[in-house]
Amino acid sequence: MRRSDEPAVARASVCARRRVSLNGRQIVAIVAILAWATAAAQTQGTLKRGEYTLRISGCVHCHTAEDGDQLGGGRALETPFGTFYTPNITAHESAGIGKWSEQDFLRAVQNGVAPDGSSYYPSFPFTSYTRMRVDDARALRAYLMSLPPSPRRNREHDLPWFLQWRFAATVWQWLFFEAGEYRVHAERTASWNRGAYLAEALGHCQECHTPRNIVGVLQTDLAYAGNPAGPDGEKVPNITPHPRAGIGDWPRSDLIGFLEFGERPDGEYAAGSMEPVLEGLQALTQTDREAMADYLRALPPIDKSGGGE
Ligand code: HEC
Ligand code: HEC
Repeated sequence: MRRSDEPAVARASVCARRRVSLNGRQIVAIVAILAWATAAAQTQGTLKRGEYTLRISGCVHCHTAEDGDQLGGGRALETPFGTFYTPNITAHESAGIGKWSEQDFLRAVQNGVAPDGSSYYPSFPFTSYTRMRVDDARALRAYLMSLPPSPRRNREHDLPWFLQWRFAATVWQWLFFEAGEYRVHAERTASWNRGAYLAEALGHCQECHTPRNIVGVLQTDLAYAGNPAGPDGEKVPNITPHPRAGIGDWPRSDLIGFLEFGERPDGEYAAGSMEPVLEGLQALTQTDREAMADYLRALPPIDKSGGGE
């Protein structure tokens, strides 16, 4: 049924009057509010993404001393090469990294290079974070800058004389480090790639679960096969899907459950340096947790007892 023309004309003239009644100032205000709302929503999204990246990457544990402010640094990391004290990475202008540009931050995390051009030691796992996507790294920085600054001053590392000279770190990087974002393996599924990204670039699982040679380089032919000399001299287990040496006998659902609650199939809870890792992994979405588990389950099984028994 066709409506009569009368009301249609009336509606049109009401609309026309309304449009005319918006003056220039009002239009500017509306556009500004819309732009502000969009920017605010984008900022919220960025901060959420930054927090997620921070948690999965485990930055907080290393960069927070037992008695200290969150991310204010000062945790002692005992390594076979000496004791490292993590720096303050809060937004504090003089004690932290508040004055750093975004570019400075990206260079540190992705290339292991400080704003003054000197090289970081690989006790900072930039060797894994170099695989981080640049948009994740940017969001991570935005989130760090949104947190409360800590005035805690950095402490010098306690290293043998031959490592005190930062040029040693430059040489190490030159010999053993290849920078670069995660490269998608096109022949694999999107889920496998997501799991690989989470484990390799963010979760830096290999930094503990893969043995190192005498100069601290990961032995990638033994990827995830366990490390007899993990952090604080701890033995780190083999997590390849080998049924005896690794975790190949764990049902898929148990591995997914472990990544959420830290409980092994035998009912024991993971301890030691895995504990703070698991705390961060609790942030994983279910889809990401499954992708990480499936990535581990698809690794080549290696018959080597973790912890080198
Ligand atoms: C295993 C412990 C560990 C983890 C995990 C870790 N860091 Fe660090 N980080 C260090 C150490 C040690 C240094 C100092 C390295 C050096 O002096 O050469 C450092 C240095 C830095 C620096 C340079 C600060 C400065 O003042 O020069 C930044 C920035 C940084 N880390 C950010 C991060 C971020 C972001 C994360 C998480 C994505 C993270 N770190 C995770 C140990 C860690
Ligand atoms: C800071 C060192 C460290 C990092 C990083 C780390 N792990 Fe662990 N992981 C350990 C240690 C140590 C244990 C043994 C804990 C225990 O004995 O209770 C462990 C245990 C495990 C186990 C249980 C294995 C078993 O046989 O009981 C799994 C699975 C595991 N880690 C997965 C991961 C994944 C996935 C990542 C990366 C997201 C990761 N880990 C990163 C140190 C680490």
